This record gives sequence, C-alpha cells and structure tokens, in this order.
Amino acid sequence: MSHSDDHAAGNRRDFLYVATATAGAVTAGAAIWPLVDQMNPSADVLALSSIEVDVDGMEVGTQLTVKWRGKPVFVRRRSAEEIEAARATPLADLPDNDSRNANNPGDGSDENRSMDEAGEWLVMMGVCTHLGCVPIGDGAGDFGGWFCPCHGSHYDESGRIRRGPAPENLPVPVAAMDGTLIKLG
Ligand code: FES
Repeated sequence: MSHSDDHAAGNRRDFLYVATATAGAVTAGAAIWPLVDQMNPSADVLALSSIEVDVDGMEVGTQLTVKWRGKPVFVRRRSAEEIEAARATPLADLPDNDSRNANNPGDGSDENRSMDEAGEWLVMMGVCTHLGCVPIGDGAGDFGGWFCPCHGSHYDESGRIRRGPAPENLPVPVAAMDGTLIKLG
C-alpha cells in the first residue's frame, strides 16, 4: 500500500468512525426525546421560562425594561401622582375595559393591573397591541404613560390604551412579587 493509499484508508476509517458516532448520537437522542416529551412541560423547561428581576434600588418614577422569552417587559415604579391619575380615570373612558392581567382578570381599573395594592409597581409586556412595536415610556404620549410612535397609540399611566389604533391594554404577564423580587412566568 502506498503512502497515499494508507492516508486515504485512514480518512475512510475516520469517516466511518465519525459516521457511526453520529448515528449513535442520533439514536440516543431519539430514545431520550419521548421521555422528555412525556414530562411536558418538564421542570427544567418551566425553570428556563421564568426569570426573577430584582428591583431593589429602583427610584420612584423610573422604569426598566427586561427581556423575557425574547420580548421586552416594562417594570415601572410609579410616583404617587401617576397612581392617583391612573386610579381616578373613569372606566367609561377606557376603550378596553379589561384588566388584561394574567394574574387578575377583571375590569380595566388600575387596581386590577398593578402588582401591589398601593399601585406602586406596574409590570407589563412592552409590546404594542396594535402591530407589536415597542412603545416609548416615561410619561410619553398624551396620557402620561407610553406612546407607540409606529401608528400613534397612546397608553396611560396604567398601560391602558386611551387613543390610537391599538385595540387592547398592554398585557400584564404571569408575575408575582416577593419583597424586591419580581418573578416573571
Ligand atoms: S404598532 Fe403600535 S400603534 Fe401600531
């Protein structure tokens, strides 16, 4: 056998080895998958789909945006004025009188949307309910909350749609608050 034949044989052996190993991995994967699938949703999957946000040190009247499940979530620590304005709004003025709160179904009153009883903490998806743009916050728009510049939707201090093409309030995702920790999912 010439040197080059030997080399080619070596490559063949490598190829066979790699091919066998790969087939083995695929088989193992196929065998494992039904087990994982049976436990659907598995504890691992649930853990991955939840995150905790520590809001310790967040100033009153500020907000932060966190990314969760690939989407922005707004966390706002509202001022007394914002809470008061949101709670003084008559329900009849709301184009969407629904809390849109996964944790607290009900009418669109601000009490049904905030995380805590005092109304200081507001958590909601930062995705415009019209066509999915990310609204601008910090009091933007004509209602002291958020404004979506894509087609001009105005949301109030509670994230409720007040004017523009967006059909629904910004949704509040499954969330829980424990001290300064907000758990999403
Ligand atoms: S996407 Fe927000 S107004 Fe159209």
